[in-house]
Amino acid sequence: MRKDVRILLVGEPKVGKTSLIMSLVSEEFPDVVPYRAEEITIPADVTPERVPTHIVDYSEAEQTDEQLFQEISKANVICIVYSVNNQKSIEKVTSHWIPLITENTDKDSRVPLILVGNKSDLVEHSSMETILPIMNQYSEIETCVECSAKNLKNISELFYYAQKAVLHPTGPLYCPEKKD
Ligand code: GTP
Ligand code: MG
Repeated sequence: MRKDVRILLVGEPKVGKTSLIMSLVSEEFPDVVPYRAEEITIPADVTPERVPTHIVDYSEAEQTDEQLFQEISKANVICIVYSVNNQKSIEKVTSHWIPLITENTDKDSRVPLILVGNKSDLVEHSSMETILPIMNQYSEIETCVECSAKNLKNISELFYYAQKAVLHPTGPLYCPEKKD
């Protein structure tokens, strides 16, 4: 049985990482947030899977690359957050974030990724059409979810998916290409 789960949120500035964490904790949308939320620990008995869960924020404004790399290597699951109304933040998922994570994680330990499309309150159309090809391209991506820190939509689900990705990964048990 696992001791605990460490969830890291990364993504471009202003996509709403800190707001997502604060919305989860306070169950309301904070109008003003710091660049980076304090690390929070959710006790086992209030998490769906009964495992203590740490949620770790990242902010380029307050952290060095070195600190980011260190957090990436400590994480059990990484949520890559983009904003559904910001195409650039979606492009950066594949051009920047996934390669950076791959470089800073142990090749043998598969760290599940979750794609998080925040600010769903601002658009009528889902970003899934753009996201599905990315999902198909990278087996590390466990799932994707669209949410809104503002409407509190899919917030608890997002953290539940992250926890579940660590405790019950659905990844392949073996890599067919690697069989002899
Ligand atoms: P950095 O710390 O600079 O990397 O940014 P961040 O990703 O932590 O974003 P932050 O939580 O600071 O939010 C950036 C802006 O987006 C703020 O003005 C938030 O109020 C706004 N915002 C965050 N989530 C939502 C959302 O779900 N909907 C809307 N409409 N605005 C949001
Ligand atoms: Mg922030």
